Amino acid sequence: MTGMAVALLAVALLLLATGCAGRDFIVGGRGGWTANPAEPFNHWAERNRFQVNDRLVFRYKGQEDSVLVVNQSHYDACNTSDPFMRLGGGESGFVLSYSGPHFFISGDAGRCHAGERLIVVVLAVRATPSPAPSKPSPPPKSSPSSPPPAPAAAGNSSTSPPQALAPPAAGNSSTSPPPAPALPAAGNSSTSPPPELAPPPVTNGTVAPPP
Ligand SMILES: *[C@@H]1O[C@H](CO)[C@@H](O)[C@H](O)[C@H]1NC(C)=O
Ligand SMILES: *[C@@H]1O[C@H](CO)[C@@H](O)[C@H](O)[C@H]1NC(C)=O
Ligand SMILES: *[C@@H]1O[C@H](CO)[C@@H](O)[C@H](O)[C@H]1NC(C)=O
Ligand SMILES: *[C@@H]1O[C@H](CO)[C@@H](O)[C@H](O)[C@H]1NC(C)=O
Ligand SMILES: *[C@@H]1O[C@H](CO)[C@@H](O)[C@H](O)[C@H]1NC(C)=O
Ligand SMILES: *[C@@H]1O[C@H](CO)[C@@H](O)[C@H](O)[C@H]1NC(C)=O
Repeated sequence: MTGMAVALLAVALLLLATGCAGRDFIVGGRGGWTANPAEPFNHWAERNRFQVNDRLVFRYKGQEDSVLVVNQSHYDACNTSDPFMRLGGGESGFVLSYSGPHFFISGDAGRCHAGERLIVVVLAVRATPSPAPSKPSPPPKSSPSSPPPAPAAAGNSSTSPPQALAPPAAGNSSTSPPPAPALPAAGNSSTSPPPELAPPPVTNGTVAPPP
């Protein structure tokens, strides 16, 4: 019962871990999300390489500003009506969940026109796993016999690693979408009895009738 749930959880965590936990990018760096960035946001964006599952973090004054996720036409026009998503509260995380361009503007059209808007282009997902970016020294500590972290010991939950579980934690945005885990309800499924019950015919006389 619960062993099953733990096993499913372990698999989910493993998928999360191997499916490359993204990095965080503070939009605009130290200056944050502002109408007067030290460096134009799109220059900043071009200096970086964004991949799926990376996360943008917008920091701004929550009382007077916000972040809108829009399409290109709304980006071009600084049109703040009907955004795909509105992030508020002063610190907003946005996970780049697909490759291609993403458009962000300030919720204040004036600020948008002043330069508070951003295009982030997320690189296409590669088929091959990441080619080990610049880890100068392979970990010399573990003795060669011990394989790394002993995956999926499903029995006792003391193993479950606290990997990057809930990314967003957007400050005040009531809009932040749930990360859609879509686990198939492992816990308490009273719905699926084993289909073939097949009472054992061998024992004579002791055929306990099902309650
Ligand atoms: C902004 O976009 C809406 C549709 O979302 C459109 O109806 C409206 O005319 C646009 N406003 C401007 C100024 O383009
Ligand atoms: C952009 O989004 C607005 C509102 O969501 C919509 O009205 C408009 O048709 C969209 N434009 C394009 C080119 O998709
Ligand atoms: C883990 O399993 C051992 C026996 O296999 C049991 O004694 C122990 O209480 C379990 N711990 C937890 C947290 O379930
Ligand atoms: C958002 O933040 C404001 C103050 O920053 C607070 O008053 C309000 O309750 C918060 N709303 C939510 C949904 O957290
Ligand atoms: C499973 O559901 C039953 C009622 O359907 C409940 O009494 C029991 O506490 C639940 N167990 C777990 C582990 O959720
Ligand atoms: C099962 O029990 C019945 C009577 O109780 C008997 O007639 C029959 O031979 C038994 N069969 C076996 C396989 O023991």
